[in-house]
Amino acid sequence: MNWLLLCVLLISVVEILSVSRENFKTCDQSGFCKRHRAMQPGSSPYVVLMDSIKIFESSTVELQILNTKNNVRLLLQVSALKDNTARVKINELDPIKKRYEIPVGDALVGEPKLQNMKVLERTDGSITLGFEDNKILITSKPFRIDFINNDEAVVSINTQGLLKFEHYRKKETPPAQEETADGQESDTNNEEQQEGGDEAGEENKEETPQEEEESGMWEETFKNFHDSKPFGPSSVGMDVSFPGFEHVYGIPQHADSFALKTTKSTDPYRLFNLDVFEYELYNPMALYGSIPVMMAHNEKRTVGIFWHNAAETWIDISSNTADKNFLSKMADLVNGGSNEIPQTDTHWMSESGVIDIFIMLGPSAHDVYYQYAQLTGTTNLPPLFGISYHQCRWNYNDQEDVKNVDANFDLYDIPYDVIWLDIEHTDGKRYFTWDGEKFPNSEEMINNVAAKGRKMVTIVDPHLKRDDNFAVYKEAKDLDHMVKNKDGNEYDGWCWPGSSSWPDFTNPEVRRWWATKFLLDNYKGSTPALFTWNDMNEPSVFNGPEITFHKDVIHMDGFENRDMHNLYGQYVLQATSEGLLLRSENKERPFVLSRAFFAGSQRYGAIWTGDNMGEWGHLKISLPMLLSINLAGVTFSGADVGGFFKNPDAELLTRWYQAGAFQPFFRAHAHIDTKRREPYIQPEENMKIIRQAIIARYSYLPLWYTLFYEGETKGIAPMRPLWVEYPADKNTFTMDDEYLLGTSLLVKPITEQGQTGTQVYFPGQNELWYDVETFKLYNGGQSVYVDAPLSKIPVFQRGGSIVPRKLRIRRSSSLMVHDPFTLIVCLDKKESAKGNLYVDDYHSFNYRRGEYLHREFTFDQNEFRSQSVDVHGNISTKEWIEKIIVVGLNKEPSKAVLNVKGKEPQILQWEYSSYDKELIIRKPGVNIATDFSIQLS
Ligand code: NOJ
Repeated sequence: MNWLLLCVLLISVVEILSVSRENFKTCDQSGFCKRHRAMQPGSSPYVVLMDSIKIFESSTVELQILNTKNNVRLLLQVSALKDNTARVKINELDPIKKRYEIPVGDALVGEPKLQNMKVLERTDGSITLGFEDNKILITSKPFRIDFINNDEAVVSINTQGLLKFEHYRKKETPPAQEETADGQESDTNNEEQQEGGDEAGEENKEETPQEEEESGMWEETFKNFHDSKPFGPSSVGMDVSFPGFEHVYGIPQHADSFALKTTKSTDPYRLFNLDVFEYELYNPMALYGSIPVMMAHNEKRTVGIFWHNAAETWIDISSNTADKNFLSKMADLVNGGSNEIPQTDTHWMSESGVIDIFIMLGPSAHDVYYQYAQLTGTTNLPPLFGISYHQCRWNYNDQEDVKNVDANFDLYDIPYDVIWLDIEHTDGKRYFTWDGEKFPNSEEMINNVAAKGRKMVTIVDPHLKRDDNFAVYKEAKDLDHMVKNKDGNEYDGWCWPGSSSWPDFTNPEVRRWWATKFLLDNYKGSTPALFTWNDMNEPSVFNGPEITFHKDVIHMDGFENRDMHNLYGQYVLQATSEGLLLRSENKERPFVLSRAFFAGSQRYGAIWTGDNMGEWGHLKISLPMLLSINLAGVTFSGADVGGFFKNPDAELLTRWYQAGAFQPFFRAHAHIDTKRREPYIQPEENMKIIRQAIIARYSYLPLWYTLFYEGETKGIAPMRPLWVEYPADKNTFTMDDEYLLGTSLLVKPITEQGQTGTQVYFPGQNELWYDVETFKLYNGGQSVYVDAPLSKIPVFQRGGSIVPRKLRIRRSSSLMVHDPFTLIVCLDKKESAKGNLYVDDYHSFNYRRGEYLHREFTFDQNEFRSQSVDVHGNISTKEWIEKIIVVGLNKEPSKAVLNVKGKEPQILQWEYSSYDKELIIRKPGVNIATDFSIQLS
């Protein structure tokens, strides 16, 4: 690299590090968003042509929609799907150019399963369809659709008349070979495309009355970036209302509250995968990932929608209750409340593609999770090390450094599973290579780490250094695998290695090629204990508009990045995860962490919330951010513990470890310019507390693992907002500083400086909650101040639950796999409890061939039972039950007898504390696969 180039790169990096809002568009600066947002409710030009009705396979109704302003026709398809879900699709009837649709199998896991639907009623102006216990009312003039359950509309489409479908069109007065800012002819592609248009399209165009051209339709400039927009305007938008719902959630990723806010006085929430350094809190700006999924919840039900579109998308939210002005709120107060039925209205606007909405009708939150999982898949059960503790830093400098960090964890008795290497480990940011001086023998290094059951991760970003001596780049170039400029040349942008190009991961052939790079023969110096981190895959392009691709870059089949920007990063993750599968011949579960994500990313790996800061506010926001991401199906997710930028003080770092220990993906990470902050170099008190937090994580691995198994099979997230389990409790609807793990643990991390206690809301009127350390009892249905000095993580187990733990401290999770379980039985008011445990080999896919155990534990009427709940699963394991702790038992038993089929009953030793009402049954000594009971008398 010449010096000039190096200087330019350094300047651009420094510039990015001080990135500010100005680098990112507001709705006003985005032509299509501005056009959609300017629409006034109540003046929809769209009508349904009722005579055009066609019915397919008794499950899909097709109708034409006419835009009465320009005579352009759209095709409406309404389908009933299995599992109480409906789909509404709107496309141009005769487009002059094929509109982009996300290929089935990419966001959607497969073709959604149809189900029968009946035409219940037809009039001149409407048609009513019925499936399961739902009605779908399609009204012609103006066009709207209502989804009705028990005579109540629960989701309504286009009731405000904000449908706007920008059809592809000819540019009426093409500027004569006008030169754009970067010297390209702006309308070349457009003309070519128009020549390729079919006849129907041409006819359609001739009938089309001229619409008013608005600025930004045919080209747009942001800062000094020019978007050539060769195909002109192509956006789609529509409103979706949730009658009866005051709260909506989801549409990650934003650094905002969990219950979404009205956007009346802000920009709409934006979904556009971007590299936003040092992101601001509590605003609707786009971040690294985008999942266009929203849930609405009230005391009676939960519904959800999935806007299946991967283009840049903005979402406005308004609500008749939240948007009330001060005076009407006062009036409500005086009148003892308002009689108005709450309603949340949302307005979805995407730059390209088609309208394709899935309406998930619940009725419970668990149902919506399941319905969404049927569409986009579930999180595959991670290998056990994936949900253990990860130690990362930009960078661990060399082999010696890795050796020292690894040794120090042992010296201080702190478990960890994975040590990570950031970009500096490579030969000049050429991924799949090693810096030969710093890592002369990477295999030996990985093997040493692996000898303690640990793993390593290296970073593999999608930008390839444009250097013909770099084999991966050269091959991609020779195979013509790169993303192209609008003029057809290899796209060239700046990232860590300097001048870079990006493989077109939207192309399955390119993904297959990429996957082969992970084969041990190709990735020299790697071993099966090495896993992968995909960063910068939004993608981040230092000198691109908004630090990403130009929108007019070309992908497979001539589609632009504009059409599917939000999917690019997921394709990188998918290809990488497939690479790890290929490497192990589909035997070992892959582990890949990705920064960018979309709907469906859960099928391929974990994600994290990007470059947060070592500040209290960022610790606090990690909760609502993760709750939103989890709600949208990407359940294996976490935030950089400690914060990526800045130097957190020991208190903040300690509190962050405590929070991270109870979040799904648990990794500490830090920027290259920060001070070293591994747990063992903290002041002794903090080090000990951090160690305890990490140990707590390891002790709960059996619970996490069981929850992730439930997640793979049922789609439900381990990390849940309270209302998912307490749907009728209004107190929980806006709560995002505490959450549940499964149904049994309530977690309220301390996220404020100097705090030595916190107000905890214990849900469930009739429930009991037990502090997991002291077993102190709290009644449900109240808020209580709980002491939380620095050493305390406020975590509570629900009375009525049984939680499996492993309490022996090991260096890594794989050294725990044969360890015995301790079962914590917390009794409810009826002195009963229930729980379950999933066990397999913790790393391979053999569980999909039935090599697993799924056990159910119950405690009722003084009897503890363990039995299999799944006859399909069986595996022999050394794991056994070491201890059963029963909490909340009012009467001391006089005898505890173990009964195992075919064996003599055995009297067990126990201890009882009447003060704590705690019974400890020592050494039942039964293998976890064995059915047994313990009778107390
Ligand atoms: C940006 C990522 O967000 C961060 O985690 C990483 O350390 C740097 N890139 C360097 O690779």
